[in-house]
Amino acid sequence: MDRPDSPTVVVLGSVNMDLVTTTARRPAPGETVLGSEFATVPGGKGANQAIAAARSGARVRFLGAIGDDAFGTELAATLSEAGVDTTLLRRVDGASGIATIVVDDTGENNIIVVAGANGRVTELTNTELAAIADADILLCQLEIPIDTVLAAARHARTSGTVVALNPSPVAPLPADLWAAVDLAIVNSLESEQYSAELAQVAHVVRTLGRNGAEYRGAETDELSVGGLTVDVVDTTGAGDTFTGALVATWNQGATTALTWANTAGSLATTRLGASSSIPDSAQIAAALTTG
Ligand code: RIB
Repeated sequence: MDRPDSPTVVVLGSVNMDLVTTTARRPAPGETVLGSEFATVPGGKGANQAIAAARSGARVRFLGAIGDDAFGTELAATLSEAGVDTTLLRRVDGASGIATIVVDDTGENNIIVVAGANGRVTELTNTELAAIADADILLCQLEIPIDTVLAAARHARTSGTVVALNPSPVAPLPADLWAAVDLAIVNSLESEQYSAELAQVAHVVRTLGRNGAEYRGAETDELSVGGLTVDVVDTTGAGDTFTGALVATWNQGATTALTWANTAGSLATTRLGASSSIPDSAQIAAALTTG
């Protein structure tokens, strides 16, 4: 539920149907193994982060595209049911985005994304640009065309909207995009790959898996939070949950936001799937209370 002080977040990004197979052990190249279960679960980095932000109390509007298939209908419904405003979600001809995901007994995964409709989010309309300008925060990832992310980030910058970027999956990015970013949220791998670029970003949050997360501010501010001890079932979407929860609480200061997001991300690892594992405010608050 929205809080009176909750920020308005526009998420510009992907929405995928995740095709999830669980198996004791992920196969080596050329190897066949037997799986144990299969499920279709709504996901996509953009949609996961939008749902996580909404469940943490932000007012969230989603910009992106679904296809005209049955997956698209289910993906749109999942966003709406989570309280995300989908009035500007595009429905285009063809297939929705999908992700093939294999999860092993340790909760680790491999993911292959086929963009589908997400690849069709090219030109931003005036209405979409106006939504970005009206928002407190624009949150993007890299599962839609990078030129679109760049156009949105530039527009947000000139409009006074904070630009948050989760640069995942890793891709070469134009310097102009980095110049427009206020807040970058990266995992350890992304932190290494983008180390030179991150040096120029005012606020950088790095997730450390089971070791928690750390923050570096523009000046000398640095802080870190330790990992929580949880029974890990599936790490899919945990980083997205962290990112959405962080952005939803960013206006409360880095310490509060980092602690909140770290708890949200940890809880997400205790359930199977991406959107299906994202906790709400009450669940995060309860976990913070019990430690
Ligand atoms: O970050 C997890 C997400 O990555 C999955 O939901 C999948 O759709 C891919 O986008």
